[in-house]
Amino acid sequence: MDSSAVYPRPMLNQLPAYQSGKPPVETPGLTPYKLASNENPYAPVPQALDAMAAAVTAQSVQRYPETTYLKLRELIGQIYDVPVDDVTVGAGSLGILTGLVQTFAGTNEDGSQDEVIIPWRSFEAYPIVIRSAGAKDVQVPLAADGTMDLEGMLAAITDRTRMIMLCTPNNPTGTIATTSALRAFIQQVPDNILIAIDAAYLEFVRNDDVDNYLELYREFPNVAVLRTFSKAHGLANMRVGYSIAPPQISLPLKVVVPAFATSSVGVEAAHASLTHLDEVLAHTEKVVSERARVWQAFNDLGYNPPATEANFVWLPLGELSQAFSDACDTQALSVRAFHPEGVRVSIGEVEANDRVIQVATDFAPRLNG
Ligand SMILES: Cc1ncc(COP(=O)(O)O)c(C=O)c1O
Repeated sequence: MDSSAVYPRPMLNQLPAYQSGKPPVETPGLTPYKLASNENPYAPVPQALDAMAAAVTAQSVQRYPETTYLKLRELIGQIYDVPVDDVTVGAGSLGILTGLVQTFAGTNEDGSQDEVIIPWRSFEAYPIVIRSAGAKDVQVPLAADGTMDLEGMLAAITDRTRMIMLCTPNNPTGTIATTSALRAFIQQVPDNILIAIDAAYLEFVRNDDVDNYLELYREFPNVAVLRTFSKAHGLANMRVGYSIAPPQISLPLKVVVPAFATSSVGVEAAHASLTHLDEVLAHTEKVVSERARVWQAFNDLGYNPPATEANFVWLPLGELSQAFSDACDTQALSVRAFHPEGVRVSIGEVEANDRVIQVATDFAPRLNG
């Protein structure tokens, strides 16, 4: 090592870089569409935009926000009937997730690493967050149908397990774990292991056996439920997410989550959006009906997409993944390739969805070739 250079901690050498969704390639005559980041194609409710505009004043932006985000936490507490102290607000659900891992898992004084069990493939930030905290991610492959292998996750528990991440709907497959399946799972997990349920896409779920997972938080003292304003609320750029978790989790978490994690402009938008939750949920219907149409088209063409409850569809294309993504590029569409596993296509505007179906139709002869 060169003693005159700075180096990241050795354990970070293996860190996979986070690949954010790339912008679509500009193509003359075609409106470009980004279907690569699971964003909401529709604008936030107008009340959220108004709240943001009102929140931007010289006085408000020159001062730090109210650091406990009490007003938003109170509204969340009211809507979901949970104590305000159980709600923690942060910079997106990723900010909360990072805080949770830093609070509960890391490297011990004897050099041993705590283990965090994650489904895989899943949200690609998980390994980065876990390894950055000095802990070890234990990846349990998804079942063949793209769902989390809960039995496999139970079997992966060791004396060193401190935390289990559950992603439902799972990014990138869109598959869910029902509340009853998770209840049966959690009953078998020792009480000293934190279970974080990442429900970033919950508002798009239409399965009767998924509530909002808060029953599980009420039943088990080791469960945290993570939510975000980035997806259904259409406020990804505002960076507001939160967790609902009992005191043994929320109290230490609040110490670790950075002060002033997110802006009052974003929090005002989130508050206004949540105040008009009915409208937000009505908006999700458009995405849900387009999802059904896009999924059906892929399915009819032989792509075998797993059943999705999120605002994206997973195409298990294997070695053809990059080629499919390249074909989308030529039509000014960006999708997310995880070569050589598959491609995740976010549900977008109707025209974008029409176009991706057309690309898939043209590409279909290669599926069996
Ligand atoms: C499963 C999952 N969790 C969390 C996030 C992060 O969302 P946020 O914008 O709230 O940080 C994402 C973003 O894509 C996600 O897919």
